[in-house]
Amino acid sequence: MKKDLLHFQNWTTSELWEILETSAHLKRERRSGVDHQGLLRGRTLALIFQKPSLRTRVSFEAGMTQLGGHAIYLGPDDIKLGQRETTEDIALNLSRYVDGIMARVFGHEIVEELARYASVPVINGLSDSFHPCQALGDMLTIWERKRRLEGLTLAFIGDGNNVANSLIEASAKLGLRFRIACPPGREPLAQVVAEARTLGAEVQILHDPKEAARGADVLYTDVWTSMGQEAEAQLRRQQFRGFQVNLDLLQLAHPQALVMHCLPAHYGEEITYEAARTPNSAIFDQAENRLHAQKGLLALLLGR
Ligand code: CP
Ligand code: NVA
Repeated sequence: MKKDLLHFQNWTTSELWEILETSAHLKRERRSGVDHQGLLRGRTLALIFQKPSLRTRVSFEAGMTQLGGHAIYLGPDDIKLGQRETTEDIALNLSRYVDGIMARVFGHEIVEELARYASVPVINGLSDSFHPCQALGDMLTIWERKRRLEGLTLAFIGDGNNVANSLIEASAKLGLRFRIACPPGREPLAQVVAEARTLGAEVQILHDPKEAARGADVLYTDVWTSMGQEAEAQLRRQQFRGFQVNLDLLQLAHPQALVMHCLPAHYGEEITYEAARTPNSAIFDQAENRLHAQKGLLALLLGR
């Protein structure tokens, strides 16, 4: 049966570890010159984008190439998702051509609908509610740098957005403690927090960046205004003032705390340039690990 990655709700801890271990293995082997072209030879992945992208597009395309397959980029003006034909028909058509679909969309229900009608795996490459591929690359990054995941404290400073929601889900399944400091009204999805707590995970919702940062192993942030929220940018700049990862905040965290950001960054807003360039900054490792984590995921979902 096909398996989709829309969020982590229906993924077990051991399945997540299988992705991480496969990713780390592929990364190691590639560095020592092993050719992985046989893994997805002849397979095709469709990439649907309703929003812009640097990392997601390039890492999925390069990943498919490295695994011997092929990716087809379908930008906002190519298939005009939601305008030219129904999402159901897009899913049914693409399933006749390709072996997997990755989609970056506005409403999360769009990837849900693609997955409902597609007979091939559907991967969420970011929706308004979740960004699971980002969280996979991030967990791989933390695991590499800290040699463990369980028991670490991840402090997220800023908006309770798609990235935060996926980090909460991944943290809950992989044993990290999660704290967020956000302005009141900008909390992550209540259902995501409740579900994580049901699993026994520690999730703290705070409104003071200093309180969240204290002793944390990871300081993570993301833009104040996500794609699709541009009309609120000015309001958000006011609401989020002070919710910034900078060298002062970093002083409060664990001395070896990682600085993380999914990118793109708006230096001077949610993070300072200096904080993003400290030796403990992992932001470009995160970007690189999108490639490796997604290759692990693709090998498992499309290679069977
Ligand atoms: N982090 C991330 O998803 O980057 P892009 O928006 O450039 O794909
Ligand atoms: N929260 C951001 C993440 C970008 C990768 C957005 O949705 O725009």
